[in-house]
Parts: sequence; C-alpha cells; structure tokens
Amino acid sequence: MENLLHEVNRRRTFAIISHPDAGKTTLTEKLLLLGGAIRTAGAVKSRKAEKFATSDWMELEKQRGISVTSSVMQFEYKNYKINILDTPGHQDFSEDTYRTLMAVDSVVMILDAAKGVEPQTIKLFKVCRDRGIPIFTFINKLDRQGKEPLELFEEIEDVLGIESSPVNYPIGMGQTFRGVYDRFNKEVELYDDKKAQSRIPAANLDELRDVLSGFADEGTINQLEEDLLLIEEAGNPFDLEAVKAGKQTPVFFGSAISSFGVPSFLEHFLELAPPPAGRETSNGSVQPTDPDFSGFVFKIQANMNPAHRDRVAFIRICSGKFEKGLETWLDRTGKSVKLSQPQQFFADSREMIEEAYAGDIIGIYDPGIYQIGDTLCATKNTFNFGKLPTFPPEHFAKVRPKTALKQKHFLKGMTQLAQEGAIQIYKTEHFEEYILGVVGQLQFDVFIYRMEGEYNVALDFQPLSFRLARWLVDNEIPRDALRSTTNLVVFDTKERPVILFENEFALNWFQQKNPDVKLAETAL
Ligand code: G4P
Repeated sequence: MENLLHEVNRRRTFAIISHPDAGKTTLTEKLLLLGGAIRTAGAVKSRKAEKFATSDWMELEKQRGISVTSSVMQFEYKNYKINILDTPGHQDFSEDTYRTLMAVDSVVMILDAAKGVEPQTIKLFKVCRDRGIPIFTFINKLDRQGKEPLELFEEIEDVLGIESSPVNYPIGMGQTFRGVYDRFNKEVELYDDKKAQSRIPAANLDELRDVLSGFADEGTINQLEEDLLLIEEAGNPFDLEAVKAGKQTPVFFGSAISSFGVPSFLEHFLELAPPPAGRETSNGSVQPTDPDFSGFVFKIQANMNPAHRDRVAFIRICSGKFEKGLETWLDRTGKSVKLSQPQQFFADSREMIEEAYAGDIIGIYDPGIYQIGDTLCATKNTFNFGKLPTFPPEHFAKVRPKTALKQKHFLKGMTQLAQEGAIQIYKTEHFEEYILGVVGQLQFDVFIYRMEGEYNVALDFQPLSFRLARWLVDNEIPRDALRSTTNLVVFDTKERPVILFENEFALNWFQQKNPDVKLAETAL
C-alpha cells in the first residue's frame, strides 16, 4: 500500500493542447530533453519522420504537415514519473483529442503570445472546463513581440471564462525581452545568451530593480513594476483548490524554442499539478491506491506497424498495480483477458513493461476484442467507468468498394476503423448501402487513404449534403421522415434508426411537423 501511494503520488499524466503552430511540438521536445528521454533537439520531429517510414498511412500527415494521431510519451524528472499524451492540433481530429482528455489528470494549454486564445484552443478548452480538468497555461514565443500580458489575461478570462493567475511575469517582450520574474520563488530568470538560464533572487521591487539595472532599459523596468503592483492589488490571488477544480489557471511565460522558462515551468507544474485521483464508476468511486487493478481503453489504433498488422489498445490505469501477463475481466463481455505484450511508449521507442501504476498508459496487443470505453478490472463484475462521450458526426458520405470482389476486405477495414473510433457506419434501409459519418472532414481523407493502404480497397466515395444526425429515441420511424427529400433514414451498427438532416432548418421543420417524435444527438 505504501509503495502504491508513493508510485501514484509521483505520477503526473497530462495532455498538451494548443492551436496548430503555437509551439506544442517544440515545448514537448524541450520537456523530453529535460527528462533525458531524448538527447538532441529535433528528435521529436525525426520521431515523426521515423513513424512515416514504418507506417505508410502517416504519409498523409507528412503531405499535409499535420499530426493526426495522439501518442504517449513517458519519462522521469526529479523522481517524478511523467506521462505526456500528445494531441493532434488539427481541429478535424477533435474526437480523438476529446477522448484523450478523458485519460489525463491535467492539461497544459499553450498560447502564442502574439495570437492569444485561438479557435481550436477554445473548443478543447471547453471540454476541459466541463470536466473540471486543471489547466496550466504556457504563453509562448516571448522572444517575439506579442500582445500585452494583461491583455492576454483578460482574453483568457473573457473568452475561456476561467480566472488566471500569473506564476511568472515577462520582463519586456520581443526586442526588449529580458526574462521573467518568478512571483512564487521571488527570483528573476534572465534571458541572456551568456548567463543562460541564470536565476537571481529578488525579494521585492527594489531588489528587482537592482538585478535588472544595466540589463533592461528604464522603460521596461518601470512597466514591470507597474504591472506587478497592479497584479498584486487587483489580480486573482493564487488558489490551488480553484486550480485543482479547473476554475483558475496558473499562467507561465516563456520561449520554448530557446527552452527559456521551460525548466521552471516544469518544476512548478510538477509541484502544483495533481497526481492521479479517484474516479467515479458504476459502483462508487475507485481510488488510485486501491490494490486491485482497473483501467479503461481510451484509444485503439490499428496497423501501428504494418509489417505486423498489429492493433494496439491504449489503456489508462486507474487503480492498483499492473504486472505483465495480468489476468483481468473485460466488463462489457464478462470474459477474462490476459494483458499480454504490454508496452509503454517513450519518445523514440516502445518497450515491453513489467509493471505500471495508476496514471500510466499502457498499450496492449489487441486481437480485436477491445472497444473504446471498455473497462478492465482485476475481478469479475466489479464496476465500469461508463461510456466515453461520443460526438455527433457532421459530415456524411456514401462509400462502396470500386470492385465488388473487394467487399470482404471493405467490410473488415470499415469495421476495424469504426472500432478505432475514426468513423461511424450507417446503412440505408432498402439497398444496404453504407454511409459514413465523421466529426471532421479530414477523417474522410484518412479513411480513404487507410482503406487503400492497409486493406487494399479502392473506394467509390460520394459526399452527401447532410450535416446533422438524430437518433429516434423510441425507435419508431415516422412516415414523414421516409418521404422527405431533405432527410434520410439510416441505421447504425446496432440497427437503431437515425435520421440525417441537411441543416438546422430541415431539422426544425421536421420537429414542428412531428412534435411527439423524440430525437437525440447521440445514440442512447
Ligand atoms: P505546433 O506543434 O504547436 O504546431 O508548433 P511547433 O512546435 O511545430 O512550432 C511552430 C513554429 O513556431 C515553429 O516554427 C517553431 O520553431 C516556432 N516556435 C516554437 N516556439 C517558439 C518560440 O518560443 N519562439 C519563436 N520565435 N518561435 C517558436 P516553423 O518555422 O514553423 O518550424 P521550424 O522550421 O522552426 O521547425
């Protein structure tokens, strides 16, 4: 028990979210460098390149210059065990990102100082706020001229609706950037090639002025003093409980490219971010230090290594100790499964693991038995963690293989990719045609690409004009729905009827004509 507590308390499992280009790859790389998980800068990008070499469908990422999959990286720093869950920055892959957020204990949000809060960040942020996930903000690219810090705080508060409390504060910006003042440790961190990363104590404004004189110009020092006084008097006092409840975000400033502010950010973050906490289940809450193993599948990825055609289920451990070959029970099927070939992920490799604890993410070889949201427990019929949220698809297309001979491969590929959560499948009523539904348009491109590359099926693909899907709660199909030209009745994989509508107008029209028909945004 004592050992369990020790292991749980030293774990920090978090995701980094940002708008593309804010600096997520750069910050991740600097964190991995600090932890000794990689040795040279540029390794994260070359890690991506290596992946391309082993997994053809990720060619698509390279062509589009985006990252479409989430990966997991573990490393140690000062006796902490850190799990970073990478999330794709591209908005089309939001569904994958949302599910990743279910597997973390906190989030680091990166903002570009010049751009502030951008659309993609708002979307992701809302999910964090709704779930009460603690959010730490890293404002990046201080070496360039950006928005005023006070303006950025205001944006965080207005746009995101959460209090902000600066842990450090920038001294100048762009051309005049000289470092940050750490309000917690009461020290100056100087941004200077020669005195790289030096930290000098400054207990009060007089000492601060002494430290900076000759290094920063008078105007910058005056502005800093003024701002610090203002924050002290009118800003939000730091409140750890509010941070833990996701109601206040500690804000850090830095410049990831030069690693400036990154070590101190990591140290503060490790101290303030929560270790794995208890989670609600169908049978009360489970604590990370409970001796029995439990966890849930939040991501499945097929063909990570096409040479082996393997499929990996990613499990977030929620309690107990995991040991290689552990016998567990899959709640959904009531059957026992042995967790064989467990793997853990590092910056540039994956390795077999012997043991893991709450907060860790392990990858398990999946012969096709797991589904996203599955709960695994040490004993039978204990509890489940409930379903992971699904998101209503917004784009639809009719698909079929170009040649009928490929029908078997077509069905296999489509079923596997649907189990990964990449697409949703529907069938039309009479002709048994297949309709795909996705949250983001890009998922279609990936689907077509993977069906060709991994299942050798060329597709006939016909985009449809529907934008909304509604499940019929009572499973009865009103006659109106079948006759209309602005909607289409289809069936999901569990044979539940769903109506696809072209737009809100068509949906409202339908509801007005059928006030008694209950519709739901997702399958119940
Ligand atoms: P992302 O993963 O969030 O999409 O962003 P990424 O780290 O790839 O960074 C996006 C661009 O911003 C990169 O430039 C990167 O070098 C730059 N960048 C990251 N942090 C900082 C910073 O602190 N200051 C400045 N000035 N730039 C920063 P790029 O030209 O798109 O790529 P590259 O040619 O540098 O690789």
